[in-house]
Amino acid sequence: MEERRLGPVVGLGTWNTFDGDARLAREVVVAAFEAGVRLVDTSPMYHGAEGALGAALDGLREGRVVATKIWARSLEEGRSQFARQLEWFGGRVEIEQVHNLVLWREHVAWLEAEREAGRIGQLGVTHYQSSAFDELAVALRTGRFSVVQVPYNPWERECERLLLPLAQELGVAVIAMRPLGGSSEGRRRVELTRAQRDELDVESWPEALLRWVLSDERIDAVIPATSKPTRARENARAGELPVFTEEQRALVARLADARAGR
Ligand SMILES: NC(=O)c1ccc[n+]([C@@H]2O[C@H](COP(=O)([O-])OP(=O)(O)OC[C@H]3O[C@@H](n4cnc5c(N)ncnc54)[C@H](OP(=O)(O)O)[C@@H]3O)[C@@H](O)[C@H]2O)c1
Repeated sequence: MEERRLGPVVGLGTWNTFDGDARLAREVVVAAFEAGVRLVDTSPMYHGAEGALGAALDGLREGRVVATKIWARSLEEGRSQFARQLEWFGGRVEIEQVHNLVLWREHVAWLEAEREAGRIGQLGVTHYQSSAFDELAVALRTGRFSVVQVPYNPWERECERLLLPLAQELGVAVIAMRPLGGSSEGRRRVELTRAQRDELDVESWPEALLRWVLSDERIDAVIPATSKPTRARENARAGELPVFTEEQRALVARLADARAGR
């Protein structure tokens, strides 16, 4: 049986960053890998990101964890997405997730067969909306998935109620999407004072956000996305620093609340 735990690690997301640009993808991926990242998350839904990532992994695939998704309204489309992934990712996908729970009951059977055949390492499910968390819980309770991906950051903490405790109980690994607050640019614009930087022992607010997520021991991986190699390096560094104390975590949550005007 494959090891279920992934981390805690900083990985790399690919939503809205590479699109179809293989050269940019290569620069970001190389920077992230040089800084110690091993896990990359993508999806057929990410506008050409999978193909760009596949090209970017040329010569760099060994020892890396590719987490991708099946996002298909028919079994036929799901199977053809998987066939393309096998070409892009060298015949194997380490973590195959059912994206947004689309047709999950139908897809899981053939995905399990692929796992048995060794072409998939682990199966997961994802959703980006808390209104779907009850159904995510139903999927996890079937025992057929060993990974779940949900949003987690100081502004989106709904997974703390049901899914994080459940994942822990079931031994399911958790990947935190949107660790930097997702597409809301404003959430990343918090100017820390010198005293706050010292108290948190951080260099920047994005670093504080990543360490805030990783400080929850139920989180296995955060997958910040960036189109900039320097940021990929900066983000990777957050995974090597100590986790926050309760007091440091509470300070980050207060600063995030203030940013949101709460
Ligand atoms: N399954 C799902 O439904 C689902 C949904 C959403 C996301 N996801 C996954 O989770 C990943 C992460 O979520 P996300 O991309 O929505 O949001 P995110 O990682 O929280 O934020 C990404 C944004 O942060 C910026 N950024 C990255 N590093 C930075 C830094 N060090 N300093 C300042 N800004 C920085 C990026 O801009 P620059 O490019 O300019 O750096 C980008 O706009 C996705 O890429 C995807 O793989 C999955």
